[in-house]
Amino acid sequence: MTETWSTSAGLDLHLELAGTRPRAGLEAALREAVRGGTLAAGTALPSSRAFARDLGIARNTVAQAYAQLVAEGWLAARHGSGTWVAERVRPLIAANAAASQAAVRGARYDLRPGVPDVAAFPRAAWLAAARKALAAAPAKDLSYADPRGLEVLRVALAEYLGRARGVSITPDRIVVCAGFAQGLELLCEVLRGAGKRVLAVEAYGHSGHRRIAASAGIWLTALPVDERGAVVSALPGAAGAASQAKRPEAAGAVLLTPAHQFPLGVVLAPDRRRQVAGWAARTRGVVIEDDYDGEFRYDRQAVGALQPLAPEHVVYAGTASKSLAPGLRLGWLALPERLAADVVAAKSSVGRLSSSVDQLTLAELIRSGGYDRQVRRARLAYRQRLERLASALARQVPEVRVTGIAAGLHAVVRLPAGLAEDDVIARAAARGLAVQGLADNRAGAQDLGPALVVGYATPPAHAFSTALARLCAVLKEAVAG
Ligand SMILES: Cc1ncc(COP(=O)(O)O)c(C=O)c1O
Repeated sequence: MTETWSTSAGLDLHLELAGTRPRAGLEAALREAVRGGTLAAGTALPSSRAFARDLGIARNTVAQAYAQLVAEGWLAARHGSGTWVAERVRPLIAANAAASQAAVRGARYDLRPGVPDVAAFPRAAWLAAARKALAAAPAKDLSYADPRGLEVLRVALAEYLGRARGVSITPDRIVVCAGFAQGLELLCEVLRGAGKRVLAVEAYGHSGHRRIAASAGIWLTALPVDERGAVVSALPGAAGAASQAKRPEAAGAVLLTPAHQFPLGVVLAPDRRRQVAGWAARTRGVVIEDDYDGEFRYDRQAVGALQPLAPEHVVYAGTASKSLAPGLRLGWLALPERLAADVVAAKSSVGRLSSSVDQLTLAELIRSGGYDRQVRRARLAYRQRLERLASALARQVPEVRVTGIAAGLHAVVRLPAGLAEDDVIARAAARGLAVQGLADNRAGAQDLGPALVVGYATPPAHAFSTALARLCAVLKEAVAG
């Protein structure tokens, strides 16, 4: 029997309290009310005593339902302050993202972040590696393969990741996946299956990744980001978590970009690395380290991975999307033992296996040194582009400020206060130039003001000068009003 109950707190709930499972009915009704927006984030719930009286059920039943929903991340509670609907991050496509995407459709020059110079893909080296690898591969490699990926690639990756990124991993704990996107999807499924329903994300981050997590039924909560990276002390249970009271949702996992925060471009500070490793060890939390462009550091030796600080708790994730091309759809997870079997099981469905021929080729490219050569070549080219971008803006539009470390494939261009991102995006689109606003990446309440995230790697070499000149012209015009 479904009935609508009006509580003394003025709450209307459709409750199915028939039968012997009033607690399950109450939990389902509350979940539905939160999901559907009837109960907004921050709404205080009646005390278990008052609610029980309204519903005519035992107080303990209400208390148990509240406790269950707190554990699942739907509700939050603090001793003495009662129970309320948890703050959460929606799978934000920031409100202006759709508008800015529409504005840049058909643009001739693309300075949005995300894609390397695919015209510089090392076709000859890839073909040579493919020919050699395919000639030598045993026939069995062309059958349905190990869901973790071909051993030859996992061996090459374990060696490369140890050498280039300081990752501590053995080939049996690597899972090759269709880019980080699939890796994250697999991880979210596994986390959810393990009862970890809340993922903390950086307050500025990749909106597509938030969408992936949300589609897998994961709740999101945002960690602020400052010039020292994500404020990991805001994780519940972190040592010295001053703001714990404000963030009571029990995040069981956190997604970070430690080497080069996306999109702000800062590095996660050493003490914060230790802090998040300690948090994971203490709470058995899972850290997902998205190392999407860690090879590209221009002013000094690349910052090593966070993973070796806590290999039993950190999932290191890498990708060939920046170093080679996103179209390859090749990425890799280096997994803690406690997650490996479940991730492999999730990856085992045939539709999720990765192409063996591409894996053989990448293995050969890494083994032969071709991958390192390509990274070195690209690093040099992108470094020159970043220098040109920074000096052109400093010369022509001193009102804007380029921030973030000298790394990666994008820079953040801070706009003077009062300038609207949408206005700049529209002006750029009118000149055939696609740019992205910082707000497109926003996940929480933190607002770092107007800025552009400029991906300087995407235009082919011959188009970069024009793209840069147009960007400077647009910014000059926007600043002049
Ligand atoms: C923050 C971040 N992580 C990871 C990736 C790579 O994603 P994938 O490997 O799925 O192509 C990107 C690509 O744009 C990115 O911006």
